[in-house]
Amino acid sequence: MTRRAYDLLVVGELNVDILVKGDVEPVFGQVEKLVDSLQVTGGGSAAIFAAGAARMGLRVLFASVVGDDLFGRLMLDLMRDAGVDVSHVVVDPELATGSTIHLLRDDGDRAMLTDLGSIAHVSHDLVDADWYNDVRHLHVASPFLLERLAPSLPEMMRLANRAGMTVSMDTNWDPAEEWALPGFYEHLDVLLPNENELLALAGKTSLEAAIDAMLEQVPVLAVKRGAEGALGAQGQARIETSIFNVDVQDTTGAGDTFDAGFLAAWLAGGTLHQSLVLGSACAALTMTQVGGFNGQPGWDEALALVESQTPEHAPGLRSLVR
Ligand SMILES: Nc1ncnc2c1ncn2[C@@H]1O[C@H](COP(=O)(O)OP(=O)(O)O)[C@@H](O)[C@H]1O
Ligand SMILES: [Mg+2]
Repeated sequence: MTRRAYDLLVVGELNVDILVKGDVEPVFGQVEKLVDSLQVTGGGSAAIFAAGAARMGLRVLFASVVGDDLFGRLMLDLMRDAGVDVSHVVVDPELATGSTIHLLRDDGDRAMLTDLGSIAHVSHDLVDADWYNDVRHLHVASPFLLERLAPSLPEMMRLANRAGMTVSMDTNWDPAEEWALPGFYEHLDVLLPNENELLALAGKTSLEAAIDAMLEQVPVLAVKRGAEGALGAQGQARIETSIFNVDVQDTTGAGDTFDAGFLAAWLAGGTLHQSLVLGSACAALTMTQVGGFNGQPGWDEALALVESQTPEHAPGLRSLVR
């Protein structure tokens, strides 16, 4: 294949998360209460994935739309800092950049308030037809959350296949719990759900049955199993990897950062096993810091973790680095 200008094309939302911590119930009647902390972070699984992939050295082209506002500028800054090409992101002065306030209680419960804003405007129109020939791989993140983009995704994936691109998808959760993805699977090279999502997508109650059912539609599965680790499936092969032991601070974006590490190895020619290990290392490292964009490693840091806890995988992974 001729060398293409980018490794990855990602289309998705750029939105801000405002995390408010403290055992405080908001009270109307203009009551002001003090909280323990308030933090503004970048959100959106496609964005967290793209940033993680860029930190792992992949050349990432990101298509999206933001408002001409502080949150939009913040998101573009975060993406640029990670090394993502956001030069084609549309800045629409008519829109507010999407944002969510998360009220986080000490007991682990949370309440969310979301202004969809620009998120509802992510569509296939943001993608230039020429890009299909300039990029090696298309990654689809959270199709159930992108209502306007979702109906175009099978066609996007078909165009990607036709242009010689490979395609992966992390479905994430379906808030409607319908789990219908008609016309999606036939274009996929890799599907990266978590375990609960896989069970729901396959309509099965056991992991084995769900894997067998999905492998009839998709050639490779990388299943994220939280603290149980990850499981890869391809043909008759089943590969289980365990987690890296780290000081977990926040699990936001762990699955998306897993996807980034997985594809960094996969696109470098790594085996399924190597890709699972690198994905797990990247996920573990992002968990050591609060916020999905924080703690995402580059190759050196990911390899150092692999070397320290599963040294048998280090030489093989190191040989993949360009
Ligand atoms: N406690 C943990 N310590 C270290 N790594 C973890 C831990 N929990 C999950 N991981 C890693 O993060 C990956 C993704 O997390 P998971 O919660 O399964 O995905 P998702 O965020 O998509 O639900 C897992 O496959 C595993 O490799
Ligand atoms: Mg996920």
